[in-house]
Amino acid sequence: MKRLSERVFSTGILNPNLRVFDVIMRTEFGTSYNSYVVRGSEATAVIDSAHPRFAALYAEELEAALGGAAPAYLIVNHTEPDHSGCIAQMLERWPALTIVTNSVAAKNLRNIVNRDDLPLHIVQDGASLSLGDRTLLFRLAPFLHWPDTMFTYLPEEQTLFPCDVFGCHYCEPGVLDTHIAYPADYETSLRYYYDCIFGPFPGFVQKGLAKLADWEIQRICPSHGPVLTKGCRLEAALSAYAAWSAPEPRNAKRIPLFYCTAYGNTRRLAQAIRNGILSIFPDADAPLLDLSDEDPDAMGQRLNESDAFLLGTPTINRDAPPPLWNLLARADAVNLAKRPAAVFGSFGWSGEGPGHIALRLQMLKCAAFAEPHRVCLVPSAADLEAARDFGAAFAAAIK
Ligand code: FEO
Repeated sequence: MKRLSERVFSTGILNPNLRVFDVIMRTEFGTSYNSYVVRGSEATAVIDSAHPRFAALYAEELEAALGGAAPAYLIVNHTEPDHSGCIAQMLERWPALTIVTNSVAAKNLRNIVNRDDLPLHIVQDGASLSLGDRTLLFRLAPFLHWPDTMFTYLPEEQTLFPCDVFGCHYCEPGVLDTHIAYPADYETSLRYYYDCIFGPFPGFVQKGLAKLADWEIQRICPSHGPVLTKGCRLEAALSAYAAWSAPEPRNAKRIPLFYCTAYGNTRRLAQAIRNGILSIFPDADAPLLDLSDEDPDAMGQRLNESDAFLLGTPTINRDAPPPLWNLLARADAVNLAKRPAAVFGSFGWSGEGPGHIALRLQMLKCAAFAEPHRVCLVPSAADLEAARDFGAAFAAAIK
């Protein structure tokens, strides 16, 4: 437990040994599950809870922060279980506790706590809650990063509780940004967290930031990582989120061609298709990217930032080889819908690879162009001309 002010306490649980969060994120710097207590003159509120794995430790931290008071309210900014996992035990400990949240979160909570009689107080965008000499204001911030997310603000202390926003998987005992011992690691973590959690929702990040514009903020208390303070890292975090979520001005279309090739045949097709694309878009950024040589994360980023893309695959043992699937495992399924895409490849025997990849693109709801362009073994001059035409037709279709 850490006292942030006379009335605000952090009850963050440190988990320095965590190395994978929610299956998909590397957490080389561990994480913390932050929860906060605000003690008003008339009532005390707890803001978010903790991961259920740490329920016993969280209970100790919380009791210490409460100083013998029974909380009147639990504010649920977001229902992902790393912040809602201890609600059931809190309701057992304090049966009079009222859960304050929005209607979207309430639906989830009923399925997390599995009680039909949850003591809920549903708030709308712009609502407030008095704790006596302290007030909590609420603004909905959907898709940051779940549909249920909301911001809580304590105006008397100009303190924002933004849930996961401005957080990161980084663990140090100091709690405050002024105590960060490894700033480069913290900054790496902040960016990686943004990319993984908020990268798919840049428009919602912009909307969320706009909702903060008229709040003076001296302190940001996120759900993971250090508390940010004005004059230290708070301003930089706000600016970084604004910059990372801003639409990027683009001069040329980005049309990467990702491929794998065992004997160079699929590469030859890729080169011919690229020539066709350049015949329509001479300035296109259309790199040929051999997935066997490239960094998988960088390729995933190129895929997700493309205007359109092509995937070239051989067929090995009746399927596309792992580098293609590794790339598609990094696909941003939220934003790739309707993205123009095409598939091609050389094959030797049965040639299932391109068809399998096309099925995955269908599942991602990409705008698939034509049937996969397939050639048996070594492309002839006529095959290469046809591949060039395929590329030109694909480019013309997205013009
Ligand atoms: Fe940290 Fe989205 O939960």
